[in-house]
Amino acid sequence: MDKFVIQGGRKLQGEVRISGSKNAALPLLASSLLCGGWNTYHNIPDLVDIKTIKRLLGNLGAEIEGGETLRVNTDDIKRCEAPYHLVRTMRASVLVLGPLVARMGRARVSLPGGCAIGARPVNLHLKALQDLGAEIDLRDGYIEARASRLRGATIYFDISTVTGTENIMMAATLARGTTVLENAAKEPEVVNLAETLNGMGAKVSGAGTDVIVIEGVDTLHPVETTVIPDRIEAGTYMIASAITGGDVTIRGCRLGHLDALVTKLKEAGISIEPVEDGARVTGGVEIRSVDVKTLPYPGFPTDLQAQVMALMAIGKGVSVITETIFENRFMHVGELMRMGAVVKIEGSRAIVRGVKKLKGAPVMATDLRASASLVLAGLAAEGRTDLLRVYHIDRGYHAIEKKLAALGADISRVKD
Ligand code: EPZ
Repeated sequence: MDKFVIQGGRKLQGEVRISGSKNAALPLLASSLLCGGWNTYHNIPDLVDIKTIKRLLGNLGAEIEGGETLRVNTDDIKRCEAPYHLVRTMRASVLVLGPLVARMGRARVSLPGGCAIGARPVNLHLKALQDLGAEIDLRDGYIEARASRLRGATIYFDISTVTGTENIMMAATLARGTTVLENAAKEPEVVNLAETLNGMGAKVSGAGTDVIVIEGVDTLHPVETTVIPDRIEAGTYMIASAITGGDVTIRGCRLGHLDALVTKLKEAGISIEPVEDGARVTGGVEIRSVDVKTLPYPGFPTDLQAQVMALMAIGKGVSVITETIFENRFMHVGELMRMGAVVKIEGSRAIVRGVKKLKGAPVMATDLRASASLVLAGLAAEGRTDLLRVYHIDRGYHAIEKKLAALGADISRVKD
C-alpha cells in the first residue's frame, strides 16, 4: 500500500487544472446502458472509481475504448448482473440498476452495503423503481428487479438523494408515460446527466430544480457529451491555497457550482477572484473561524466538510460544523486531533477551536474526503505527516500529489 509523505509549511503558488467530475462521469457512463451504438464521453477523469465502472460495464458486455475521451458501445449486453466484488468497492455501481431494468427488463445488482461514512441504504432507489412498476426481490444480498416495461409515475423522495434521482431519471426515460420526481436532487451532476439523456432523445425537464418531469420514449440513440468539471476537486484545491496562505489559480472549474464554499471562504477572510474559466484564491494572513452546515445542493457540500474542517482547525476562533447528510462523516476528526486540532463532537456537530499551528504526524485515511482533509492538514502542519492508505484518495483525485507538488508542496508517494 502506498503512503504520502508531506513536509508542511510551504505556501502553494501557481495554477492547477481541474479534472472531470467523478460524480458526473459515473452516472453518465451508466446511462450508456440505455441504448445501443457508440456513446462518446469527453473529459472523463482518470480515477480508480472510473476504472471500476469500466470493469462493471465490460462485465455486462459493453465495448469500451479510449481514456479521457471514452467511447462505450452496449449493443451486446451479455448479462444483467453487477457482482458483489465490484459493487462493494464502489457503491455508485447501483447506478446500473435503473438503466438495466429499463432497457433489458431485468437486473441483478448486489446491495452496496454500508461504507465508512454511513449505512447508505438504497431503499429510496428501490421504492421508486417499484413505483415505476418493477418487481423487486432482495435475495442473497442482491437486488433482483424485473419489469416487462416500466410505466410512468409520480414519485416523492423522502430524502433528496443524488444517485437515487439519477437512477430513477434514467429508468423513467424508457417508461411508458410520464414520470414526475418530487424532492429531486438539484446537484450539477444531475443536470449534466439530464442534458446527456436529452441528447440521447429522452424528454427530461426541470433538472436542477426539485421537480423533474420525464416523458417516456420507446428508444434512445447514442450521444456525444462532456463531463462537467469536478466541483469537489476544485473546492479541495481552493482550500489547499487558503490553508497554506498561498496564491493559487484554479483553472477549468465552474465557480457557479461552488457558491456555498466561496461564501464561506470569503467569510473566513480568503480572497477569491473570478478569472477566465476559474478563480484565483489567495490565503490571508489569518483565517477567521466560520460556522458551516452541510445541506443538499446548493447548500454547503458534505463532500467538502472534512476539508473545511482542516481549514477551521487553524482558524482564529471557534467554528461549529454541522453534518446533516451522513450519520458518520467525522472519521477525519480523530486523525486531525492527532495533529493537534482541538475538536469536540456533539452528535452531528463538531466544535472546532482553532489552534495556531498543527503538528505533522503519521495519520490514517479512512474514506475519500477524510483523506483529502488530512492532506490539507499536512500541507499546513509543522513537520512531517505520513498519510497511510492513500488508495482511498486515488478513488476521487487524479494524481493529487503531483498536482500539489506542481504548486510547490513538498509531498511524495512512497511504498509503505
Ligand atoms: C452522492 O452519493 C455522491 N456520490 C456522494 O459523494 C455525496 O456525498 C452524496 O451524493 C451527497 O451529496 C455520487 O454521486 C457517486 P445520497 P449518494 O443518496 O447518492 C440517504 C464522494 O465523496 N439515502 O444523496 O449515495 C443517505 O444515507 C461521495 O464523492 C437513504 O436513506 O448520496 C444519505 O444520508 C461520497 N436512502 C442521504 O440520503 C436511499 O435510498 C443522501 O444520500 C438513498 C439515500
